[in-house]
Amino acid sequence: MQLPSGSVRSPQIIAVTNNKGGVGKTTTTLNVAAELAHRGYRTLLIDLDMQANATTGLFKRGAPGGRTVGMGLLGEAAAAELIVKTSLANLSLMPANIHLAKQSEELYRQDGYEQRLKQLLAPVASNYDFVIIDCPPMLGAMTYVALAAATAYLVPCEPEKYSFDGLRLVVNLASGVQAQINPDLKMAGVFFTKYNPKKRSSLHHDIVDAAEHLYPDKVLPNIRADQSLAQAQRVGEPAILYKPDCNGVADYATLTTAILENL
Ligand SMILES: Nc1ncnc2c1ncn2[C@@H]1O[C@H](COP(=O)(O)OP(=O)(O)OP(=O)(O)O)[C@@H](O)[C@H]1O
Ligand SMILES: [Mg+2]
Repeated sequence: MQLPSGSVRSPQIIAVTNNKGGVGKTTTTLNVAAELAHRGYRTLLIDLDMQANATTGLFKRGAPGGRTVGMGLLGEAAAAELIVKTSLANLSLMPANIHLAKQSEELYRQDGYEQRLKQLLAPVASNYDFVIIDCPPMLGAMTYVALAAATAYLVPCEPEKYSFDGLRLVVNLASGVQAQINPDLKMAGVFFTKYNPKKRSSLHHDIVDAAEHLYPDKVLPNIRADQSLAQAQRVGEPAILYKPDCNGVADYATLTTAILENL
């Protein structure tokens, strides 16, 4: 991937999405964003999930300042008022909290709501090389605004029997968004989390094979199951700082390289 040159730079905006719950969206958002920041890219993580797991993954007790993305989407605050710096140089966060549930309902009733994230980001976009968005486990208003603002989407899946159901739904939604409102949107890739390489003869291997058949050139490296990733999230610290030599950090570095090559 080549970063755009010139005085006005636009970031790559990557929505991490899957309507299935617990597949590793937030873990991916946190670790890809941290890896990009570690490589020196100016990175903004946007938490678009009312569960606020990406926010607490960086700030155990919630983000400082008390202002959240939901306020920005409703026009109550500008992006620059919402963004906070994190413990990792080059990584900033636009946080969420539980109020996003009500805020997204309110947003959904407004005309042209789907462009709100894109509009919110416009004044600060040139400050970043990458914006990574954590989407909620449902294909509702928040996922729609994320895909409308994004230049690419990334789909983490668990290597389980029904993982293609969720994947197909996301690809269909993204195709619709691309056709109707965001011609720039492309698939950054699909990949499997909590992968167990020892299960080579079993389901995990077969499922990765099937994905490669369905989405040739779009299947990115797997992320192995690694409890250090879960522990880092629990203590509210990026894994790259909490346990830099763990498998999870190494796998997310490999994945990030593949994403950059695919953009
Ligand atoms: N590679 C991994 N190895 C071990 N545990 C993992 C891995 N990836 C994610 N987890 C754990 O699995 C759980 C679900 O992951 P995560 O929160 O990233 O999923 P999600 O798709 O964002 O969930 P939701 O749909 O609820 O937003 C978390 O406890 C997380 O720490
Ligand atoms: Mg999540």
